[in-house]
Amino acid sequence: MTDGLRKGLASYGDAGFSLFLRKAFIKAMGYSDGALDRPIVGITNTYSDYNPCHGNVPQILEAVKRGVMLSGAMPFVFPTISIAESFSHPTSMYVRNLMAMDTEEMIRAQPMDAVVVIGGCDKTLPAQIMAAVSADLPTVVIPVGPMVVGHHKGEVLGACTDCRRLWAKYRAGEIDEAEIEAVNGRLAPSVGTCMVMGTASTMACSTEALGLSLPMSATIPAPHAERFRSAEASGRVAAAMAKAKGPKPSALLTASSFRNAQVVLQAIGGSTNGLIHLTAIAHRTRHRIDLDAFDKLGREVPVLVDLKPSGDHYMEHFHHAGGVPKLMKQLGDLIDLDAKTITGATLREVVGSAE
Ligand code: FES
Repeated sequence: MTDGLRKGLASYGDAGFSLFLRKAFIKAMGYSDGALDRPIVGITNTYSDYNPCHGNVPQILEAVKRGVMLSGAMPFVFPTISIAESFSHPTSMYVRNLMAMDTEEMIRAQPMDAVVVIGGCDKTLPAQIMAAVSADLPTVVIPVGPMVVGHHKGEVLGACTDCRRLWAKYRAGEIDEAEIEAVNGRLAPSVGTCMVMGTASTMACSTEALGLSLPMSATIPAPHAERFRSAEASGRVAAAMAKAKGPKPSALLTASSFRNAQVVLQAIGGSTNGLIHLTAIAHRTRHRIDLDAFDKLGREVPVLVDLKPSGDHYMEHFHHAGGVPKLMKQLGDLIDLDAKTITGATLREVVGSAE
C-alpha cells in the first residue's frame, strides 16, 4: 500500500523496516495507531511574526484541522517559508520561486494524500499553486482573506492605495506630522491581505476562478467568523479529496480554467502582476498564457468591479456584493461554466447559488 503514512518511505533497507522506523519516530508525538492509519492531509503553516497579512493563519489552521478530523482523515501541519511584501529585501519576486520550490519539495518529501495550502500575501498563492501543480497532489487553496477597511476623519482608508496618496499629501505639507502618524495606525486595521484589488486580492479571485478554492474564499474578510467556517469546510473537502485521490490540479487546470481566470482578472480590474503569476503557474502545466489572446479578452470583457486602486471600493464591499460567484454569473457566456472545481461541482453550480 502507498497511502497515508506508507507513502514515500525513506529507504532503510526493506519497506517493512522503513515503515516500522517511521512509525516508531512519529509515535514520539503521542499519535495512536488508529490516528496514523487514516488518510493524511498535509497543511502548510505560513504563519510568521514578520507577516501580518498571514496573522490569522493559526486560527485558520485550527479550523482546517477540525474539518479534516470531522471527516475521518488525519491532519499534519508543516511549516514552509512565508513572504510578506514589506519584509522581503530587496524585493519579494525572487523569493516567490524559493517558496514554490520549498513548498513543492516538502509536499513530495512527506507522506500526505492531499494538501491544504494557506497563503495570501502577494507572492504566496502563486508560489503555492506552482508547487501544488508540480507535485500534482489533490490540493485545496485557502486564501487568508483581505483586511477590513480603516477609517480616518470620515474617510474610508485602504492599504495600500491610500498609503501613497496620504504620504504625498504629507510631503506636500497638506497633512502635518501628528496626522500622518494617526493615519499610520489606521491604514491596516486588522490582519489579512491588502483590501484593495492589488496582487493579493487578484490572485485570490483568480484562484477561485481556477476552481482551486471554495466559493467566496477570495473575499471573506480575514477576521470574520465566516473565514474560519470556510476553512473548516476546506478541511472537509481536503479529507474527501484524500480519500478519493482527486481531483488533482492536473485535472482541474485546463485551457478553459486558465481562460476563466483571465476573464475574471480583466473583470476585476486586477493587478498586472496577476498575468505574470498566471504565466508561471501555466508553465507548470502543458498550457500556456497567450498574450495576444489575453489582450483580445481585455477588449471584450467589461470591468465590473469598482475597487481601488482603479475604482472606489474595497474587498469587503465586493464580498457583500456576492464575490467571485456573483461576478462570474454576471459575466455570462464569457465564463466556461462547465469547468470543474475541487468539490467536484462545476462553476455552473457555483454561480447557480450566487447571492
Ligand atoms: Fe501582504 Fe499587501 S502586503 S497583501
